[in-house]
Amino acid sequence: MTHPPPGRLLITGAGRGIGRALARRALAAGWQVIGTTRSDPPADPAIRWERLEVTDPGSHQALARRLQGLPLDALICNAGVLLDRGQSLEDGYPAALWAQSFAVNVTGAFLAVQALLPNLRAAQGKVMLISSQMGSTHRAPGGSYMYRASKAAVLNLGRNLATDLAGEGIAVGIYHPGWVQTAMGGSQAEITVAEAASGLMDRLQALNVITTGCFETWDGRPHPY
Ligand SMILES: NC(=O)c1ccc[n+]([C@@H]2O[C@H](COP(=O)([O-])OP(=O)(O)OC[C@H]3O[C@@H](n4cnc5c(N)ncnc54)[C@H](OP(=O)(O)O)[C@@H]3O)[C@@H](O)[C@H]2O)c1
Repeated sequence: MTHPPPGRLLITGAGRGIGRALARRALAAGWQVIGTTRSDPPADPAIRWERLEVTDPGSHQALARRLQGLPLDALICNAGVLLDRGQSLEDGYPAALWAQSFAVNVTGAFLAVQALLPNLRAAQGKVMLISSQMGSTHRAPGGSYMYRASKAAVLNLGRNLATDLAGEGIAVGIYHPGWVQTAMGGSQAEITVAEAASGLMDRLQALNVITTGCFETWDGRPHPY
């Protein structure tokens, strides 16, 4: 039996880290990959590179114009920042860093979904939001307030988008990619980018309107909200 090709996929923050590994994994699986970066992209001609600064609404609108009429089978909102390191509860966590954390991690993901909705509608595409186990309210070990709150907001965003888009056949899943060896995760992290990307691509394949709104780990375990 032959399977249809997986289709066209856009990944934000695809220049390095988990996003880069997702792009490479998706290519190997036969996806047409559009990767976004906010600076010069890596030399990888098999990927269609597009410029996107996720905190800039004009950048989202410009991307949407360049991709007008192009059906998208999947969108992975991966770009993210962790700005909490070295901040103390007593006198750290300045308002500007809160604003930046939310502008990238939350507003950036929302604006990408909003701008590319016509492309997703044209293919009944799926949306994968990369949150974190640190966004779980169930699990509250303390600290990293900005990152945890922003990733909790991503989880909440995904749950509500799932409700609104289910009727159109657009599934939205929210994921913890694992503790991954990247600039953000550090070299002591538990898994490689290749392991994270492989698991996440399996999750993307499994996501559908029945499972929409799920919060899962990279290796397919349901995560408490
Ligand atoms: N690593 C982990 O252990 C871990 C665990 C849980 C969740 N996550 C989540 O997984 C995702 C990827 O993390 P990672 O570990 O791969 O991090 P990373 O290596 O630090 O990469 C972050 C990516 O986001 C992009 N980005 C940051 N700010 C941006 C902006 N304003 N506009 C556009 N792109 C922007 C970066 O682009 P530049 O190259 O231009 O900076 C880079 O491609 C994030 O959402 C993160 O929160 C990671």
